[in-house]
Amino acid sequence: MPRKQIHLAAHFPGVNNTTVWSDPASGSHIDFSSFQHFAETAERARFDFLFLAEGLRLREQGGEIYDLDVMGRPDTFTILAALAAVTDRLGLAGTINSTFNEPYEVARQFASLDHLSAGRAAWNVVTSWDAFTGENFRRGGFLPQEKRYSRAKEFLAAAFTLFDSWAPDAGIVADKETGEFWRPTGEFSIHTDQFAIDGRFPVPRSPQGRPVILQAGDSEEGREFAASGADAIFTRHGTLEAGQAFYADVKGRLAKYGRDPEDLKILPAATFVLGDTDAEAQERARHVRYQQVSPATAIKFLEQLWNRDLSDHDPDGPLPTVDPVVGENTISRGRASVRMYKDPIATANEWRALAEAKQLSTREVIIEVTGRQNFIGTPQRIAEALDEFVQADASDGFVLVPHVTPGGLDEFADTVVPLLQERGVFRTEYEGTTLREHLGLKPAPTTSGADF
Ligand SMILES: Cc1cc2nc3c(=O)[nH]c(=O)nc-3n(C[C@H](O)[C@H](O)[C@H](O)COP(=O)(O)O)c2cc1C
Repeated sequence: MPRKQIHLAAHFPGVNNTTVWSDPASGSHIDFSSFQHFAETAERARFDFLFLAEGLRLREQGGEIYDLDVMGRPDTFTILAALAAVTDRLGLAGTINSTFNEPYEVARQFASLDHLSAGRAAWNVVTSWDAFTGENFRRGGFLPQEKRYSRAKEFLAAAFTLFDSWAPDAGIVADKETGEFWRPTGEFSIHTDQFAIDGRFPVPRSPQGRPVILQAGDSEEGREFAASGADAIFTRHGTLEAGQAFYADVKGRLAKYGRDPEDLKILPAATFVLGDTDAEAQERARHVRYQQVSPATAIKFLEQLWNRDLSDHDPDGPLPTVDPVVGENTISRGRASVRMYKDPIATANEWRALAEAKQLSTREVIIEVTGRQNFIGTPQRIAEALDEFVQADASDGFVLVPHVTPGGLDEFADTVVPLLQERGVFRTEYEGTTLREHLGLKPAPTTSGADF
């Protein structure tokens, strides 16, 4: 059997604690030259696409702005439109939530980006974390949890109807290059639980017809949503076993929607640390972890689980002897990790057991239990590991998350990509022009079949 081809995306780090802001090699996260450098590296390495996450509100902890990580970011569509002008083949993926936006506006923006980029737009449809995130958008706060995915489904179906609302016709718009004529097929009329909109869509059908649809969300509803309509999933399942279980689960859901396994690509986030020898890479990885979890960051993480002010706690001392405050987490607002601590007392006890067994300080425990690098080693070792991961059906590729912006992808592009190409598992040239073609996806349908 031929080896599966690997798909690669590059995540321009946004608001997270992977990015080592304090590293002397870190540049601006706002200046366009950073986005351009990053995109040009990804394109020269023949990546499928560049990915922008979305942070809608500055996070807070203990009532203050959380300023230990990168904070604040220019608007997604504006960045991607500018990148379309300085790249030629690289896909351009933006995270835009379906909870606080409106389908007409978002469809107009993505159709426009798809035109400006000649078929390279992708939309990561997220439902967003919490009420806090959305307070700046909606009067009265947030849609209840159980309604977020039903709104997302209605939102996507509505957007598809708009994307598909121009048909080939000896009509009013001519594309001089292709000689195609298009015109709107009539008025759209979308009446659902969430929307009541009528009108005509102003943007002619775009090169991909519809942007590539990505999904990021892990619940039962999130997986079903992806299986029913997404082209790719951005996931956190970064170990081989977790990746294989997720891959089998999600691909197994496609048949009931009349879809084939290759219609949905699984792309976990992956971090990496390279070195000339494996030992050097391990040492660099250790150094990066200490940069990512500064003493101040360790205390903030601690507070998120303990759900109380621990600003006087010594990060180099043992874990607190008091227990976490159980109940609604009120200390931290606007970040996802808080939701992962379903049973804070049990988690605190696990951390204490770990500290005891390995004789770790508070900061060292945090370094152990919070995210770590997935791939560490020489370029050869990393190329082999990435390839094995994909061939073992733990994923179809990766969304790489470098820890330094904007140069953190350069070394990977220069050393690992040529080895993947030698192995015959990664393209040496773009074969198509659109992102859909890079990802090996079928052309987008021309009608959503939705009945509003
Ligand atoms: C890998 C990953 C990346 C995500 N990125 C974003 C993001 O950039 N912005 C955002 O508002 N939500 C983001 N989300 C949150 C999801 O959109 C979703 O709201 C959240 O995971 C809750 O859905 P779930 O219950 O299905 O997991 C991300 C989720 C995952 C798993």
